[in-house]
Amino acid sequence: MKSSYRVAVVGIGAVGSEMIRILQQRNFPCSSLQVFARSARPEVVDGVTYQVEQVTEEAFDQIDLALFAGGEKAEDHFGMRALQRRKHVTGLSDLVVIDNGNAFRMYPNVPLVVPEVNPEALKSHQGMIANPNCSTIQMVVALKPLHEYARIKRIVVSTYQAVSGKSAQAREELLKQTKDVAAGKEPEIDPSIFPYPIYGNCLPHIDVFLADGYTKEELKMIQETRKILGDDTIQVTATTVRVPVDNSHAESVNVEFYNPIAVDKARELLAAAPGIVLIDDVANNRYPLQSEASGADPVFVGRLREDRSVAYGLNLWVVADNLRKGAALNAIQIAEKMREMGLL
Ligand SMILES: NC(=O)c1ccc[n+]([C@@H]2O[C@H](COP(=O)([O-])OP(=O)(O)OC[C@H]3O[C@@H](n4cnc5c(N)ncnc54)[C@H](OP(=O)(O)O)[C@@H]3O)[C@@H](O)[C@H]2O)c1
Repeated sequence: MKSSYRVAVVGIGAVGSEMIRILQQRNFPCSSLQVFARSARPEVVDGVTYQVEQVTEEAFDQIDLALFAGGEKAEDHFGMRALQRRKHVTGLSDLVVIDNGNAFRMYPNVPLVVPEVNPEALKSHQGMIANPNCSTIQMVVALKPLHEYARIKRIVVSTYQAVSGKSAQAREELLKQTKDVAAGKEPEIDPSIFPYPIYGNCLPHIDVFLADGYTKEELKMIQETRKILGDDTIQVTATTVRVPVDNSHAESVNVEFYNPIAVDKARELLAAAPGIVLIDDVANNRYPLQSEASGADPVFVGRLREDRSVAYGLNLWVVADNLRKGAALNAIQIAEKMREMGLL
């Protein structure tokens, strides 16, 4: 294990900025931190000015750990190429890329990792590690202890996803439309961000529609859940919805198990599981809120109750900060876990 690393963050939008913040907050040992994006310019994060550099093929030659938060094009063009270039130029495989995009998540030789759930997958890495989709991460953190105890048969999930999950621009769009309405105007839309007003609407449309009527976001939840939990027999169906909330995703998760699991046992397992905070006190109107999860690290779980329509079933409400646990924090926790395992 090295004592410090030359770190690159690619992208300084919603996720990239959060990565820079979390590297500082968690004292990740960076001997240098370079920030790349499409164009060079100064950018300020938490009062510190970073001189953003334009990303190039050679940008990663002197880097040990590259955290990609630049969208699929950046990851496609530069992440894998940087690994290939490093091997070709130096003969070494000593660059690690942790990639937030969708491009490589389902590649069999790319581990898709949530450190609380499947850290052992890191052992077989070949340089590229994929960070799962935000809505998948928080769900599998909550489901892992229940799956270990009673084995999941089927999941039905509906998401309530914040605009920050789309981009920094989408946050501005919701704010702008809210101000339009407060000023007595119709909300003005930028169709390149959302096709309809996000103010006043829940849009059942995240990422593109596929031929079978599902969205790509829904497909990601289905495929990634199976890969992370290491069980292709789990049946998953999803409806993913963008809601007019600034930050943090909520999910209604219905789970059917092969084996019995009492609500009290599920509460006990969730309360003891890493990365989870249980807020389940309906007598006092306490359940996880998106506004409380925003800026926090854990996955919050509540509204636990039996699903009496099947033999062994539970319903739960799962909330987490999609920019932190759903993206930047999970990526940095992967790097921390790799250090702990002697892989970085
Ligand atoms: N937001 C979430 O909750 C979330 C969760 C999980 C995963 N992700 C994934 O994380 C990635 C970033 O999302 P975001 O929400 O941070 O997006 P964003 O706010 O739109 O920011 C994108 C950043 O990436 C840079 N970029 C775009 N294309 C690039 C390229 N070809 N080369 C280098 N840099 C490039 C942009 O550069 P300029 O500033 O120069 O334009 C910008 O700084 C995406 O792959 C997204 O799917 C997001």
